[in-house]
Amino acid sequence: MFSKSNKEDKNTIDTTQILNDNIPKHVAIIMDGNGRWAQKRHLPRIAGHREGMNTVKKITISASNLGVKVLTLYAFSTENWKRPSGEVSFLMHLPGDFFDTFVPDLIKANVKVKVMGYIDQLPDFTQKAVKKAIADTAKCTGMILNFALNYGGRAEIVTAVQKIAEKVSQNDLKPDEISEETINSSLMTADLKPFSDPDLLIRTSGEERISNFLLWQIAYSELVFSDQLWPDFSDTTLKDCIYQYQQRNRRFGGLK
Ligand code: FPP
Repeated sequence: MFSKSNKEDKNTIDTTQILNDNIPKHVAIIMDGNGRWAQKRHLPRIAGHREGMNTVKKITISASNLGVKVLTLYAFSTENWKRPSGEVSFLMHLPGDFFDTFVPDLIKANVKVKVMGYIDQLPDFTQKAVKKAIADTAKCTGMILNFALNYGGRAEIVTAVQKIAEKVSQNDLKPDEISEETINSSLMTADLKPFSDPDLLIRTSGEERISNFLLWQIAYSELVFSDQLWPDFSDTTLKDCIYQYQQRNRRFGGLK
């Protein structure tokens, strides 16, 4: 179930030959390895984040061209505030830099921006940048580019439980009426329906953990771990990950 990039097959199989009729509808990516990419080049960590931003541009267009419906990118977690203040500040300026230069391309590609996370805790300039991008792309009807910004899976579940508890305390809901659907519709991915749950979750940089990302939603996602550092991730690597996804036999707990 958990497989690394299929390096051993690479000499015999062209893993970019993917089936166009089995593209994962929702792809979520934990973009890891920016710091190591920079370190390898004796550059400051922020140089890795800047290059990572360029990779976001490339992969957004690749995913949209492939027919992905939702691309969710883990850009800043509720735990990333623990990083040095200079790095946090740089990361807070990235959405503005990204949208200032890339919104025309997003509109051209018919890509709609969405942001998921505790946005009101972000600096005002970051909030403004994301709200503007959401408004600028509101009429786009193609792929949704969903940034997880100041997002954490456990915090999201806590917030959902609070919302549900509030309904119960107001007698709007009985405890035995609480279903999976009640929880789905209380999470930050509710408005992505019918694509709320990722079909494919990719993590780059060789690390194999979930790091508090979409904990509820990945119950039946296929997980692919790529050795590429995020700034090196390319259209070819994305296709390689989708190729691996297409080799899986998704059973959702049932039989084939
Ligand atoms: C993890 O790599 C990466 C992040 C915490 C930030 C991700 C942000 C980007 C890729 C740019 C986002 C772009 C936009 C448009 C918001 P790391 O720093 O943990 O790398 P390391 O594990 O090698 O140190």
